Amino acid sequence: MKLEDLIAKRLGVGTRGARALILGGRVAVAGEIAVDHRREISRFDEVLCEGAVVQAAMKRLHLMLHKPAGILSATSDPVHRTVLDLIDHPDKDTLHLAGRLDRSSTGLVLLTNDGRWSEALSDPATKVEKVYLVGTDRPIPVEAVERFAEGFWFATEGLTTRPAHLEILEECLARVTLVEGRYHQIKRMFHRIDGIRLTSLHRVRIGPHELPGDLAAGQWRVIAGID
Ligand code: URA
Repeated sequence: MKLEDLIAKRLGVGTRGARALILGGRVAVAGEIAVDHRREISRFDEVLCEGAVVQAAMKRLHLMLHKPAGILSATSDPVHRTVLDLIDHPDKDTLHLAGRLDRSSTGLVLLTNDGRWSEALSDPATKVEKVYLVGTDRPIPVEAVERFAEGFWFATEGLTTRPAHLEILEECLARVTLVEGRYHQIKRMFHRIDGIRLTSLHRVRIGPHELPGDLAAGQWRVIAGID
């Protein structure tokens, strides 16, 4: 929302009145006198007018959670338990997910109230790596490595998946690195290789955020140090 619109709405002074207050140097944003009446204000900015609080700054919150199997990557659901049901934090109702995992999948899920942070992590254009450990119901052929790197045509979405990195760790165990997150992407890619089905899918990393070894399934923690 623009600063002048916020002031106009909260103080009931109309756009012209708001502009006059701002240009008169009586409005401060995040501790500094505002000069641009049309600047964008987020809910993380504190706004004062003549020293009185017009908008208190919301605290940015970033969490990581170790999702167990059977829990839905959603913030509410009429039937299933969701990741939010596992979190006990006073501001949990402000959170949304930065990328989902299927209900049967496990591992790292990030939650935040900061849309810019989650968009940067989820947008395929930013090429943030997501790393998964994948168990399969039969041996993975070596040709799969090239097929993953070439990409697969997904007719439903009308696109070819971006090059994915597949490392075969054991006959039926692989590490997959993606820079996007299409619906059931890894399951669908493996299925194209001789109908392979997954026995497990566990996310271990999203960009710089690694699932800590001491964060047990069902546990969460605040990620500190992000502004
Ligand atoms: N790919 C899948 O198929 N499922 C997930 O949960 C994540 C990636």
